[in-house]
Amino acid sequence: MEGFKSLSGLCLCLLVSLVLLSTAAAAQEAGGKAVNLEGLSPKARRCVDCHAEKTPGIVADWKAGRMAAAGVSCYDCHVVRKDSPMASQCEGVREEMPAVYTSALVSPKTCRRCHPSEVEQFGRSAHARLAGAPVIEKEKYKKLFYEMEGGEFAGIPKGDPRTLAARQAGCQMCHGIEVKLKADNRPTDDSWPGGIGMRYPDGGIGNCTVCHGRHRFSMAEARKPEACAKCHMGPDHPNIEIYYESSHGKRYLIEGESWRWDSPAGEWEPGDYSAPTCATCHMSGIGDLSPTHNVTERLKWDLVHPRSVVRSGERGDGEKGRALMRRVCGNCHSKVQTDSHFAKLDRAVGLYNYYYDGAQRMLKDLEAKGLLKEDKWSDAFQELNYYLWHHAGRRARHGAAMDGPDYAQWHGFFQIFQMYKDMEEIYNWRIKNNRIEPLSPVMSTAPY
Ligand code: HEC
Ligand code: HEC
Ligand code: HEC
Ligand code: HEC
Ligand code: HEC
Ligand code: HEC
Ligand code: HEC
Ligand code: HEC
Repeated sequence: MEGFKSLSGLCLCLLVSLVLLSTAAAAQEAGGKAVNLEGLSPKARRCVDCHAEKTPGIVADWKAGRMAAAGVSCYDCHVVRKDSPMASQCEGVREEMPAVYTSALVSPKTCRRCHPSEVEQFGRSAHARLAGAPVIEKEKYKKLFYEMEGGEFAGIPKGDPRTLAARQAGCQMCHGIEVKLKADNRPTDDSWPGGIGMRYPDGGIGNCTVCHGRHRFSMAEARKPEACAKCHMGPDHPNIEIYYESSHGKRYLIEGESWRWDSPAGEWEPGDYSAPTCATCHMSGIGDLSPTHNVTERLKWDLVHPRSVVRSGERGDGEKGRALMRRVCGNCHSKVQTDSHFAKLDRAVGLYNYYYDGAQRMLKDLEAKGLLKEDKWSDAFQELNYYLWHHAGRRARHGAAMDGPDYAQWHGFFQIFQMYKDMEEIYNWRIKNNRIEPLSPVMSTAPY
């Protein structure tokens, strides 16, 4: 009897584990949950099945994301109406389901169907229309990336495809571009893909995948500083470099692997992590502060343009922004430390603005006296004026704002004072001699 009992117990165990095993095999893991392919409609299922053969990387990545587990599939994002301006048909669809239209282009308008508040907040931030504007709308930058960087000045004919290279490989991949379509409604090979401010034929503006990489669309990914680093780096806005230098970034580098990254939005709190990332300060919910996709919301100063002013209008509301940002710090710091930090930032802005205003007075005076070259890129004074605000000046301001002492000082104010002195010397020479010195002393690689 005893033997029989234990044998049946063993059988039951085996049976249970077999059932468990087969369920696990039929359903793949996604964000800890199972992907239920059986739950998809037959057409939606065909997209996945055929693409599992044709583009297995995309399907595997999709299966690892939370949306797959929630039953959101290729069909939900890529199928468009026949009358959509971007309607085309993928090879498989054309053969198997000729009434279905698809597009490789997926604009935030599609995401908005299920995530209206994220899309609305994003749309009000500088990451949307404002980010695309320099590349799409502004003539002065077209002059920069076609005539100058694109080599027209050096003899490449206007309209030659090579003149597009600097824009397409550079500005466009961070800022975005307006998508143009070929006769088959697929994007032209120079207007897609692109960065955060993409403009789509369906009127959608923005690109969610720069932070939530396709096809996983992970929230945890976007909380990590590297999600921002692709664009927020380099000589003119070294935000990731500043972050790694900061006390916060140091913590992240040392112990970030053990932090909890996937808590639900609004519930990602100190304890899950010990120091903030870019997302914590600029986007996430923390304490009684709600999450936001509007990165403009928590800022006081405009630190991106030549002169720093308190934000207003479409650039936000500076005083409100400061109050919101202070609430972030308050979760981990006392008032006395937060006060000291923002006093430091406000002083740095004041010092920088003083240099900038002085430089503009000299510039105006030279202009009035006819002592500026028309081409500012071969005029030493004007080149230095550019590096003063666009490179060293931003580094000093961003370094002070985010605890990057080396960027505030050696890459920042130290270079600002040197540039300013050089500008003074050139200014004095031109005024005294009433002419422009014959050769530019500024090296084209730029003072870094
Ligand atoms: C949540 C929405 C969403 C889902 C679900 C989704 N995609 Fe995408 N897919 C996108 C977005 C967004 C892009 C980028 C579009 C852009 O930049 O305009 C994209 C791009 C693509 C591209 C073109 C880029 C490339 O790498 O060639 C292909 C092909 C593609 N998806 C196939 C699929 C397949 C197959 C599935 C299902 C397994 C799928 N997608 C599921 C949103 C989605
Ligand atoms: C029978 C196979 C098959 C089926 C079914 C299928 N596809 Fe495709 N799909 C392909 C192939 C092959 C490509 C081309 C890949 C390439 O360019 O290398 C493709 C390309 C795509 C692209 C990229 C843009 C383009 O038009 O080339 C998207 C987006 C896409 N498919 C979505 C879907 C969706 C959504 C479904 C379901 C409604 C689907 N596919 C069903 C085979 C299939
Ligand atoms: C048909 C509805 C639908 C569409 C369209 C859709 N989503 Fe989702 N999305 C969902 C659902 C449902 C969830 C919740 C999944 C869960 O947490 O179980 C989700 C979750 C997410 C998450 C959180 C993932 C995580 O790791 O927690 C992100 C990010 C996201 N979606 C981005 C997008 C983007 C970007 C688009 C457009 C390209 C998009 N979604 C289109 C329904 C949709
Ligand atoms: C590596 C990514 C990257 C590249 C490449 C890039 N930018 Fe930017 N750009 C940024 C970021 C990030 C900011 C915001 C910095 C800040 O907020 O301080 C910015 C800010 C700007 C601004 C100020 C914001 C505004 O709307 O007035 C302008 C103008 C601009 N970039 C133009 C260009 C042009 C033109 C090119 C190409 C010649 C270019 N950028 C290349 C990432 C990039
Ligand atoms: C600049 C980076 C960035 C961009 C671009 C971005 N997101 Fe997010 N997203 C985040 C971060 C960071 C979080 C997590 C916020 C938190 O910690 O509370 C998030 C969270 C989400 C979530 C989860 C919210 C929830 O309640 O579960 C959704 C859905 C989402 N994003 C959709 C989108 C859509 C749609 C777009 C495009 C319009 C988009 N995101 C563009 C950074 C970004
Ligand atoms: C694909 C490129 C790209 C990525 C990725 C990106 N950004 Fe940006 N970001 C930009 C550009 C371009 C601007 C400048 C927009 C403008 O002012 O015209 C910008 C501006 C900003 C600003 C200033 C907004 C303002 O109102 O001036 C903040 C803050 C910011 N980004 C934070 C983030 C954070 C945090 C992340 C990651 C979670 C991130 N960004 C990811 C390209 C990017
Ligand atoms: C400890 C919080 C904190 C962290 C972490 C942080 N920032 Fe900031 N960031 C700030 C503050 C504070 C300011 C200045 C706000 C003001 O104007 O008063 C700022 C300013 C900026 C600006 C300048 C906006 C402008 O006007 O030009 C950008 C861009 C930016 N941050 C991006 C990032 C990125 C990208 C990361 C991660 C690599 C990051 N930040 C990490 C708090 C933070
Ligand atoms: C999640 C908690 C957390 C948040 C939120 C946070 N910090 Fe910190 N902060 C820390 C930790 C941890 C350290 C490192 C302390 C150490 O290493 O001794 C630190 C260090 C600093 C330092 C360096 C102090 C020193 O003694 O060198 C400054 C400055 C700072 N934080 C400013 C801010 C500001 C400003 C904000 C808000 C915009 C902020 N922090 C938000 C946790 C946080």
